Amino acid sequence: MKKITVFIFLIISQLNILAQKKDLPASKSISPNLFGLFFEDINYAADGGLYAELVQNRSFEYSPNDNRSWHPFTSWEYYTPVFSYGDLSVETTQPIHPNNPHYAVLTIEHIGVASTEERFLKIPENKGIAGVGLKNTGFDNIIIKAGESYNFSMFSRLITEKPISISIFLQNKKGEILAEKQIVVENKDWKKYTATLKASASNDSTSLVVLATSTGKLALDMVSLFPEKTFKNRQNGLRPDLAQTLADMKPAFIRFPGGCLAHGEGLGNMYRWKNTVGPVETRIAQKNIWGYHQTAGLGYFEYFQFCEDIGAKPLPVLPAAVSCQNSGGTWRIGGTGQCAVPMAEMGEYVQEVLDLIEWANGPVTSKWGALRAAAGHPEPFNLELVGIGNEDKITPEFEERFKMIHNAVVTKYPYIKLIGTAGPFHSGEDFEKGWKVADQTNVHIVDEHYYVQPEWLMKNLHRYDSYDRTKSKVYLGEYASWGNKVKNAIAEAAFMIGLERNGDVVSLASYAPLFAKKNHTQWRTDMIFFDNSGYFLTPNYHVQKLFSTNMGDTYFENIVSFDSKDSTLAASCVKNSKSGEIILKLVNYSNDPKSMKVNLSKFKNLVLEADQTILKGEDNDENSFENPEKVKPSNTTIKTTKVFDYQAPAMSLSILKFKFKN
Ligand code: AHR
Repeated sequence: MKKITVFIFLIISQLNILAQKKDLPASKSISPNLFGLFFEDINYAADGGLYAELVQNRSFEYSPNDNRSWHPFTSWEYYTPVFSYGDLSVETTQPIHPNNPHYAVLTIEHIGVASTEERFLKIPENKGIAGVGLKNTGFDNIIIKAGESYNFSMFSRLITEKPISISIFLQNKKGEILAEKQIVVENKDWKKYTATLKASASNDSTSLVVLATSTGKLALDMVSLFPEKTFKNRQNGLRPDLAQTLADMKPAFIRFPGGCLAHGEGLGNMYRWKNTVGPVETRIAQKNIWGYHQTAGLGYFEYFQFCEDIGAKPLPVLPAAVSCQNSGGTWRIGGTGQCAVPMAEMGEYVQEVLDLIEWANGPVTSKWGALRAAAGHPEPFNLELVGIGNEDKITPEFEERFKMIHNAVVTKYPYIKLIGTAGPFHSGEDFEKGWKVADQTNVHIVDEHYYVQPEWLMKNLHRYDSYDRTKSKVYLGEYASWGNKVKNAIAEAAFMIGLERNGDVVSLASYAPLFAKKNHTQWRTDMIFFDNSGYFLTPNYHVQKLFSTNMGDTYFENIVSFDSKDSTLAASCVKNSKSGEIILKLVNYSNDPKSMKVNLSKFKNLVLEADQTILKGEDNDENSFENPEKVKPSNTTIKTTKVFDYQAPAMSLSILKFKFKN
């Protein structure tokens, strides 16, 4: 009897669910990973940016290969206060590790006498500290804050017999010392020395000085200074203010390390993940394709850890065993500089890709899982998404290598969602050929890229409506409209409505690039502009954040209606089942307010009061260091009826969130 009652109850509840569903508007599910981030070390986004290291060229590895005018002592100054003298050279015979070949050698022959200088020159420099050493000016100076601590470290070894005293200090432009510690180098082998420096005053043009104050000869390398406060207090960590801007977006995933940086300029410059893990002093630094240097201090471990820290899925993009087709600047003549890993080395290369998955997900008993555990992360990173290739030219060499990698990964790790590539443009030869390769391999997802005018986005709001649902899914891995004005951001918002509407076929999307440092910007437009002390957020950032923090899992059709001939309007309605909210996004890309009709009557038990956020402005408004908040979202609560006309302000994105009655 009991069984029959339970059975009847189950049938009735199923019928209820069906009845409710019948009443609901037509819907489809949205990819849970739809809105994420693209991170590339372009515009000094990593070294000198998100990576909190304050010393530039800490390992004396800068060279003309990075930048024609650079050398091992770039951003260092040979410093011999108070008539001291000696010698400075760069050597490679006995490095800390072969991966990190250059180091500085200081010979201290004579330590001057402070009173001599004071008497003759009246310079109270360094409180009279004399010695022979090095001064680092950081990435455009070092900023310190009164009362805050800075973690100094360096590797050193004695070349002569007697221990050598070293004074470590932070010095302002006037020569005054703002923090100081003493260490003694007494080891003939490389040893790491550390000290904590507490700043007695704030200063925005500080140098770090390493000054030997007794005679002898010693080697120095990996001279480093980190603020004690990093994001989540991680060692070798990230700048907290910049990292927080990303955490605030609650991105579903983070793609790294690029961009063109991933496939590099020529075979020797490909980003090889194994070179970027393990102790920082053993990582291989290399030139950055964007004309500077990458230390690999922000390496794969740090990327994965950051993803985990902010609840984003890691999305590493590995080269498809070919380099950038624009290697050597060949974009000027059509990009024929692609180099391919020789077929004889492909077995090893494919293994490198498989090893990454083992490193990220394998048990601590596996070879690569053990390395992850040794770095302090025994639990797996739960890697699911892996990109192979970045907007490569689709040549026969590419195709052959991509297929080899693809087949090996899907065979060994069928649960990995592999992402292929479809060239640098929204259409054209590489786009067509990239999709053809996708069709042949049945790759999970295809990475499309396009940087376009806002008008292009507005004309292509329905691009994905007609995509074949039986084929590979889409990752819109890099896109932006050219500009950081309100009109750019609003055009992107209108286009993102189309991504949501097609969230069943568009699995992932990320605006690019992310960061740009003042005076070091190679690529405009970007999402966040920063300098050593702060940042400003662009209207484009606000749009991205409004979408990623208001994602839904189900898309409902026909809730918002407007004149279908009006191509300046776009709107979506989604449900976020976790928060239990119905979320409307309404975009008006015109210079006049416009009306849209909202009909919520299909949703039962909705509280007719919405949390409303609006981002709007004049079409050419933008933010800047001087006026960082000219364009920003504003928030209020509005009362509605089930059916109402919404007045969308000119050039605006509105988000309306409704809750259900309990
Ligand atoms: O986002 C900047 C660059 O644009 C990327 O490195 C590259 O993939 C694209 O061409």
